[in-house]
Amino acid sequence: MTTDQRKSARLDGKVAIVTVAGAGMGKAEAIFLAERGARVGVQDIDAKVAEATVAEIRKAGGEALVLVGDLSKPADSARNVAEIAAKWGTVDVLVNNAGIHEFKDSEQMDEASFDRMFGVNVKGLFFATQAVIKGMKAKGSGKIINIASTAAMVGQAGSPHYSGSKGAVLAMTKSWAKELAPWKITVNAICPGPIMTDMVIRARGIEGAKKRAETEIPLRRYGEANPWPSTAAPPSSASEGSMGAAIDNRTSASLDGKVVYITGAGAGMGREDALLVATRGALVAVQDIDGKAAQETVAKISAAGGQAFAIVGDVAKPEDCKRMAQEAEAKRGRVDVLVNNAGIHERRDLEAMEEVHFNRMFDVHVKGSFFTTQALVPGMKARESGKIINIASTAGMVATVGDAHYCAAKAALLGFTKAWAKELAPWNINVNAICPGPIATELAVRNRGWDGIRERAEKEIPLRRYGNPIDVAYAVAFLASAESDFITGQSMPIAGGLAIVGI
Ligand SMILES: NC(=O)c1ccc[n+]([C@@H]2O[C@H](COP(=O)([O-])OP(=O)(O)OC[C@H]3O[C@@H](n4cnc5c(N)ncnc54)[C@H](O)[C@@H]3O)[C@@H](O)[C@H]2O)c1
Repeated sequence: MTTDQRKSARLDGKVAIVTVAGAGMGKAEAIFLAERGARVGVQDIDAKVAEATVAEIRKAGGEALVLVGDLSKPADSARNVAEIAAKWGTVDVLVNNAGIHEFKDSEQMDEASFDRMFGVNVKGLFFATQAVIKGMKAKGSGKIINIASTAAMVGQAGSPHYSGSKGAVLAMTKSWAKELAPWKITVNAICPGPIMTDMVIRARGIEGAKKRAETEIPLRRYGEANPWPSTAAPPSSASEGSMGAAIDNRTSASLDGKVVYITGAGAGMGREDALLVATRGALVAVQDIDGKAAQETVAKISAAGGQAFAIVGDVAKPEDCKRMAQEAEAKRGRVDVLVNNAGIHERRDLEAMEEVHFNRMFDVHVKGSFFTTQALVPGMKARESGKIINIASTAGMVATVGDAHYCAAKAALLGFTKAWAKELAPWNINVNAICPGPIATELAVRNRGWDGIRERAEKEIPLRRYGNPIDVAYAVAFLASAESDFITGQSMPIAGGLAIVGI
């Protein structure tokens, strides 16, 4: 990773294709990728709308190419990829954004509607992906991003073929992630929930969308696909405030002016998180039980030109959590982002467990996160904004052998994440979890030794390497920034493909 990458999430030199990028989210994604430096192939069945997106990108100084094709025809995708390869030689990123939607219940369903839905959303996506894979394999790198939908996760009444098609997209995502990992091609899906585009307006109308935002969505607004569809204004005034932030934030995920409190930031991932968010402009409260370690992190941040201060105490003690939160808030009158990262690990099987070990594990992870959050939430509520990021673990999702107390403690954090996301959404406080898998920190080396780490990477991890703390820090910086304002209650595994589970 270059130093530039640490400062902002840039895409200079990358070539991306966004399918169906003539309108809605696809258009917004194409424009955004170009703003971050990528050259973008704007694919659409309708040449006119693709040309309009390309014209906007070029006007803003970006590079883009019109790709006209019908995604339900595999030959069109192959031709589009050949066109982009002829111009720029390569495809680094494919955003499979294409998708159609309609409400038609199971009784009304006819074969033509069914085939059209699966033809675009599943078959179209499959062959668009097939068309880029050869080139990505030859380079030994690539990113495929499938735009699925929350409809696949929770089901949407009145559109069974849409929900089913997006479920198929999620299953293909997992299958390809495993198949393509040996070539360092990553495959992930994004599941947008309610995002205000023309698709939503056609399906529900503005009034229907407004009602849904008020009654069903914890954050009480639709997500934003910028630019706004020509037919609609944003349905809630709350979104105008965050639009402002999003515009400033477009060319880099800046954390300028934010105060970020990170527990256990004297070593490992917490230290890397602290260094990264400081590079992106935050003032960092470096919390640790080990004062010397905390001061070392502060010194590293200062040496790199950032701002930080140390906070020392034991998160397992609720009275320390309260005192430390007050100390941090006193610096600038607020804490904007809390990262509950402090943690311990030990292998101890069921029979060897003593109450003291069990209690310490839960006191540090579970009580520590709970009471640190409790101490910082009142300030966030008063300002009606905040971000809480719980560092859980894939061990809390899929479990590991010989450390049931650790797995259970991390699973508790996943429970807190969902419960707090719902409880705190009315105050615009987002709560999410990151689930690191195997990350090469001191904790991991103590646990398995370097030989054990190498062996596990080769045998068990689809991407065939341990993660580095920076892999997790990038996700922390994203969840701390305005870029993730519409994400709450989610758990993000960062594990090289080790925990591909659930829908
Ligand atoms: N390393 C991995 O592979 C891995 C995988 C999944 C999850 N995690 C989780 O990520 C987090 C960070 O782990 P790491 O690998 O960077 O560990 P690490 O041991 O390298 O660093 C942990 C830091 O937390 C501090 N700490 C421990 N107990 C504390 C307490 N009671 N109060 C305040 N600070 C305390 C330590 O002093 C240390 O500085 C932990 O929550 C861990 O469970 C790690």
